[in-house]
Amino acid sequence: MSLKVSRLVNRRIRNNALKTRPSTRAGVMVTGWGYQGKTETVCEVAAAFEDAWLAMHHHLHPQPIEGTRDLHAPVVYVQTPVTAKPKSACQALLGFFGAETKRLTLPQLIRQVADSLDDHGTKALILDDITRLRMHRADDQDTLDLVRAFMSMNVTLILVGVDILGSGLLRQGRFDEGTRQWVLPPSQHARVHGLEATQTERRFDLVELDRFRYTTPAQIAAFHDHLAGLQANLRLLKAPPDMLTGAGMPEYLMRRTDGVVGLLERLIEDGCQEAMDSGHETLDETLLDDVVLSLDDPDRDAQAGEVPAIPGSSRPHTARPAANDRRRGRNTVFDDQGPYGQAGG
Ligand SMILES: Nc1ncnc2c1ncn2[C@@H]1O[C@H](COP(=O)(O)OP(=O)(O)O)[C@@H](O)[C@H]1O
Ligand SMILES: [Mg+2]
Repeated sequence: MSLKVSRLVNRRIRNNALKTRPSTRAGVMVTGWGYQGKTETVCEVAAAFEDAWLAMHHHLHPQPIEGTRDLHAPVVYVQTPVTAKPKSACQALLGFFGAETKRLTLPQLIRQVADSLDDHGTKALILDDITRLRMHRADDQDTLDLVRAFMSMNVTLILVGVDILGSGLLRQGRFDEGTRQWVLPPSQHARVHGLEATQTERRFDLVELDRFRYTTPAQIAAFHDHLAGLQANLRLLKAPPDMLTGAGMPEYLMRRTDGVVGLLERLIEDGCQEAMDSGHETLDETLLDDVVLSLDDPDRDAQAGEVPAIPGSSRPHTARPAANDRRRGRNTVFDDQGPYGQAGG
């Protein structure tokens, strides 16, 4: 699963980076719910690419502007700000370069982004949590257009977000059955600002990073492999060799975390801390039962679905409001709110 995402991202970045002509560069969209390892997976691949690319060019910009040979940023990673508008998204991006953003209009900002990417020899642009940009209202057209303007800059665009299909990002796209890619029309901004020489559409592979499942033998084996990897790296003094993979532990961990890689990591981390503090020095169900998972992470936007529901917790899943009818929730008009609901509590 994670491997599928890594391979695809890796293939796209590397193949595109080696293209010298300004031909179209297919991008990648990585979708999946919160804490499933999207950021981690994409960044790991991008970091490996950056190392390789820098080594290949002896850490110097191959086509530098005079006096800036060492200003070389093959990979740019930007997290979309919470409640971002096109301008603030551009500013966040320019913040990566430390570029001037004050008193610039949106078209100037977009131009500045294109120039910065060009000047720094950027090959891959990762826009993380892109679905924080609200894209399902009519006045969000600007946002959609901005994303398409990014597509026309000569980089591999990697968009990472929660439930991209439901977010409206692909609203104007169409799915090409032949290549199994999404095709998006060119941007208005690009046309106006001359960013795009040819009015070509952009192609994207959409790949989903799912949670671990526990149904088929292959899925069970993948989860066991992950646990085996984890336990091999833990150093608890009284841990048996099959601490996480033995007896009913895989099923227990699945139950506690729903197979979400980030929740699993959190549970194991907190469990280990508890095991060390109490002198128990191993992880078992009794110890983990006392570990309560909570995800108060200021860097995550719960409204955008970036925080998963914790199994067994009463806190409801706070997914983003549905972008289209297919995902609209149940009609609650006739629900009995109970005495507290009626009292307004
Ligand atoms: N393959 C993995 N193995 C172990 N831990 C992982 C893996 N992928 C992600 N994590 C951990 O899970 C947590 C959530 O990952 P993150 O990439 O931030 O998720 P997302 O971007 O999907 O919300 C992080 O703490 C990260 O270190
Ligand atoms: Mg993330």
